[in-house]
Amino acid sequence: MLVSLQRPHVAVACLLVLYQLSSVLSIPDPRQREALIELEASMQTGGQVVLTDAEKRLDAILFKMKQEEIVRADFPPAMHFFKARDLIRTSPIFSLLQKMPKGGALHVHDFAMVDVEWLLKNVTYRPHCYMCFTDNQSIRFIFSSQEPKTLPNCSPWTLLENLRAKMINTTDLDNSIMGNLTIFTDQDPETVYPSQDVIWEKFEQAFLALWGLVTYAPVFRDYYYQGLSQFYMDNVMYLELRALLPEVH
Ligand SMILES: *[C@@H]1O[C@H](CO)[C@@H](O)[C@H](O)[C@H]1NC(C)=O
Ligand SMILES: *[C@@H]1O[C@H](CO)[C@@H](O)[C@H](O)[C@H]1NC(C)=O
Ligand SMILES: *[C@@H]1O[C@H](CO)[C@@H](O)[C@H](O)[C@H]1NC(C)=O
Repeated sequence: MLVSLQRPHVAVACLLVLYQLSSVLSIPDPRQREALIELEASMQTGGQVVLTDAEKRLDAILFKMKQEEIVRADFPPAMHFFKARDLIRTSPIFSLLQKMPKGGALHVHDFAMVDVEWLLKNVTYRPHCYMCFTDNQSIRFIFSSQEPKTLPNCSPWTLLENLRAKMINTTDLDNSIMGNLTIFTDQDPETVYPSQDVIWEKFEQAFLALWGLVTYAPVFRDYYYQGLSQFYMDNVMYLELRALLPEVH
């Protein structure tokens, strides 16, 4: 009776010892763990760099700014870019990062490297700029000293200078021109672009609209200069440009 009562106790005791042994064996030495983490951190880019006191202060400020950005109700990296764009532009951490040196911009198309406000204000306001409206609500441009031949599927050409002169307020026209040169929308992007086909069509039409503005030789020169200046202002150190090098006139 005694024996049979004790057996289970022995078994339990054995199990406990085994359990404690195995858990001791499976926990790594915490000092080794610390050393491993430290070694790995030192192998990261900049891991061997020792910060000066001034750099440590900046690092602390950056870290604090980052934490403040993360706790805000709207966290830009978690939003659709069109909705996040204004938040990013007004973000304090963005304006600090903008000044800092960047590695490289590796995928830039020459026909999409200058901001659309510059194209509108600088290029479409130049003399001899004609515009027509396509059958499917896009636009085309051409610079010409005389009225050019009408394009298929496009309205007769209008000289923008004349069109603007007839208007009291050109804001709506200018906004609609800009709307045709980019896929950006301030409406709900998921509603405006319900499928890849819809946004791809809009994307292609935007490039076709840009074509007539950028392939005018005097614009082409300024356009490249403006594009490179914008990357320079953002402190981008290296740029890989996918250039079409179109025929200019
Ligand atoms: C829109 O019009 C342009 C120019 O006429 C044409 O190239 C394009 O295929 C048209 N797109 C659609 C969806 O009809
Ligand atoms: C021109 O029109 C826009 C929008 O329709 C308006 O916001 C703006 O105040 C107007 N500008 C002037 C000078 O009337
Ligand atoms: C247009 O851009 C060019 C090149 O950056 C610049 O030299 C010129 O002054 C600009 N013109 C206007 C009206 O902004």
